[in-house]
Amino acid sequence: MDKVLILVVMLAGVPKAIFSLAEHQTMCNAHVQNTSCSVKLGESVYIQMMSGDSDHKVQFKKVNGMKTLFTLKNKMVTLNKDYKHRTEFFISNWTLKIQNVDRSDSGQYSVEVFGPDGIFRRKTFVNLHVAEPENMCIATRNKSCCIPLGRSIYIQVMSNASRHKVWFKKLNGTEKVIVFTLNRDKVKLNEDFKNRTQFFIFNGTLKIQNVERSDSGQYSVEVFGPDGVLLRHTFVHLHVQEDTSSTLFFILVIGVPAVALLLLGLLCVCIRRHKGRKTP
Ligand SMILES: *[C@@H]1O[C@H](CO)[C@@H](O)[C@H](O)[C@H]1NC(C)=O
Ligand SMILES: *[C@@H]1O[C@H](CO)[C@@H](O)[C@H](O)[C@H]1NC(C)=O
Ligand SMILES: *[C@@H]1O[C@H](CO)[C@@H](O)[C@H](O)[C@H]1NC(C)=O
Ligand SMILES: *[C@@H]1O[C@H](CO)[C@@H](O)[C@H](O)[C@H]1NC(C)=O
Ligand SMILES: *[C@@H]1O[C@H](CO)[C@@H](O)[C@H](O)[C@H]1NC(C)=O
Ligand SMILES: *[C@@H]1O[C@H](CO)[C@@H](O)[C@H](O)[C@H]1NC(C)=O
Ligand SMILES: *[C@@H]1O[C@H](CO)[C@@H](O)[C@H](O)[C@H]1NC(C)=O
Repeated sequence: MDKVLILVVMLAGVPKAIFSLAEHQTMCNAHVQNTSCSVKLGESVYIQMMSGDSDHKVQFKKVNGMKTLFTLKNKMVTLNKDYKHRTEFFISNWTLKIQNVDRSDSGQYSVEVFGPDGIFRRKTFVNLHVAEPENMCIATRNKSCCIPLGRSIYIQVMSNASRHKVWFKKLNGTEKVIVFTLNRDKVKLNEDFKNRTQFFIFNGTLKIQNVERSDSGQYSVEVFGPDGVLLRHTFVHLHVQEDTSSTLFFILVIGVPAVALLLLGLLCVCIRRHKGRKTP
């Protein structure tokens, strides 16, 4: 019994420990020929390449777009001006750090290494995948999103909503409840949502804090251009989930003792039967 309980407690602790370690940065080991790495939007990634001699020349390029992020030549690092403010290359361990990754960082990169003689030595590829945070719901197409009860959710309607018109409605049976409207860069929020929702015009994102069970359901999103023409009509289905930690709590507090009692009960019945048989 004790062992089961300890195991359950340990299992409960593991995801949190991993999460806190990997919360803001990801290590991407590009030693093998073709590597795939996944990094969360807004976080940092360290791409460690197979190192060579310090007199080698290295070119790190984005394959799609043909952009050179950095070059190492004559022990000097040259960073692309578009990336300069958020990238760094450490010559000591041939590691490239990219901070604050955005969606456009997704894609394939190539690492080309040349000898001091200028002769090509090797080429490897790194596939970077930028993952949306789990509480980000991109509503530019029909989408189903899950969010644990009590958390905040970000629903992105468009990348920049300035000068656009937006109607965001909750569908309640045949009834439509307006959650917010945007018109002439003015946001009007529904009274019932007002104290826990916010719409950021500059990145077209609605934030709903402290998500409730009743937030589950279908939402309709209509986006109009500055000229008033409907650009897009999409639907978001929101599923509010019970917090898994409270489920775990339930299992630990109610479930485990219940199973223990049941086992104990069975044991008693068995012993009694056993005794009954031995002494007729
Ligand atoms: C690595 O990827 C490149 C381009 O996608 C491909 O041409 C090459 O065959 C791959 N190499 C290996 C070993 O998979
Ligand atoms: C490489 O070196 C830099 C600077 O010393 C350090 O911050 C980084 O963690 C190192 N990366 C790896 C993968 O060891
Ligand atoms: C979204 O769903 C609605 C109805 O379910 C459908 O009419 C519409 O074509 C869909 N839009 C896209 C972009 O898939
Ligand atoms: C959003 O669009 C408006 C008008 O088109 C523009 O003035 C503004 O700079 C844009 N904002 C961002 C953050 O891109
Ligand atoms: C949805 O409809 C039900 C009854 O039809 C009502 O009680 C409830 O308040 C409505 N929800 C919203 C968010 O308007
Ligand atoms: C919003 O207001 C209700 C009462 O009207 C309150 O119970 C709730 O805590 C408030 N929520 C936030 C996020 O302030
Ligand atoms: C939009 O801006 C808000 C406030 O700065 C931020 O919390 C949110 O994550 C942003 N959304 C996206 C999609 O970047």
